[in-house]
Amino acid sequence: LSFIRRQLHRIASTLLRFVSADRKKLIMTALTSVLQESMRGVTETTGQAAEAERLPYPVEISSFEKLYDTRTGGWHATPAEIRINVFEKELYPVIFYDSIELEVGHFYHAFIKLTRSSVILETGVSRGYSTCCIASALSELRRGGHVYAIDPADYPHLWEGTGLEPYISWLPKTSQDAAREVAVREYDLLIIDSHHDYDTCMFEVMNFEPLLKVNGYILMHDSLFYDGVGAVVKQLVSNPRFDVMTHMTPRSHGDSRSRCPGLTVVRKIAAEGPPIRFEEQFSGWYIGNQWDVPFLERK
Ligand SMILES: C[S@@+](CC[C@H](N)C(=O)[O-])C[C@H]1O[C@@H](n2cnc3c(N)ncnc32)[C@H](O)[C@@H]1O
Repeated sequence: LSFIRRQLHRIASTLLRFVSADRKKLIMTALTSVLQESMRGVTETTGQAAEAERLPYPVEISSFEKLYDTRTGGWHATPAEIRINVFEKELYPVIFYDSIELEVGHFYHAFIKLTRSSVILETGVSRGYSTCCIASALSELRRGGHVYAIDPADYPHLWEGTGLEPYISWLPKTSQDAAREVAVREYDLLIIDSHHDYDTCMFEVMNFEPLLKVNGYILMHDSLFYDGVGAVVKQLVSNPRFDVMTHMTPRSHGDSRSRCPGLTVVRKIAAEGPPIRFEEQFSGWYIGNQWDVPFLERK
């Protein structure tokens, strides 16, 4: 850039020797605007303007999002059959509900940028859609963040070849088996979306919540659809250490009378106070009746 500026200055000085004073002013104005234009191009590719204009997701994830079915809130393709970089609805007629809804993925992404969360623990990865939403927010934050993502299922992961790999450590284990390994650091955010029975969900909350910083958050998908998760959330609601809010989410499974998955946002407001307890009466709870009022919303 300084070479271009020097050359422009040299050419301008030579030309200006042969022109009258009022022409000089005109030429200088024109040259200044040319220089400003060229500088704008350079700063846009390197600076903040480029960051602001960047797509919110890597292209590969935007392509995967073409498989979202807005009518049902599901995805065309099972996690195992997905072929990385082949995203055409016609190839995958079956709708599957393992990954969070697209709108929830975008919420995770925005939430991480809003709270500037850096160190994240996720349970339930599947094909890695949620993990990509998390990792792309971390890459945009540029704070050296990382997501530790637990799931024993060995599906092809959507982050492969996207450039998001440095932000992700996949732990191919169950939460129970990974508990000791992840207990070596504190987290800003826990994202819980593995097996939705009470026992697994409670195990994760009991073991991972102590690793969460005060003022850190827990995001729990499926707290309205699965009564097992709802029972865990209900206990958090009654515990003064937490501030809890549950939102409805768009998935209908193609039946407007069915429960939606729901998303619970928990803020840990204190470390000291009542511990979380395993309540035997809920052991083994899973979905419940999907056309009935969710357990979490019952008085
Ligand atoms: C609902 S899917 C996760 C979807 C993912 N969050 C997404 O949005 O793409 C649930 C995943 O939990 C995993 N899982 C089941 N039991 C688990 C456990 N005990 N620990 C960790 N992951 C488990 C399953 O293998 C499955 O891939």
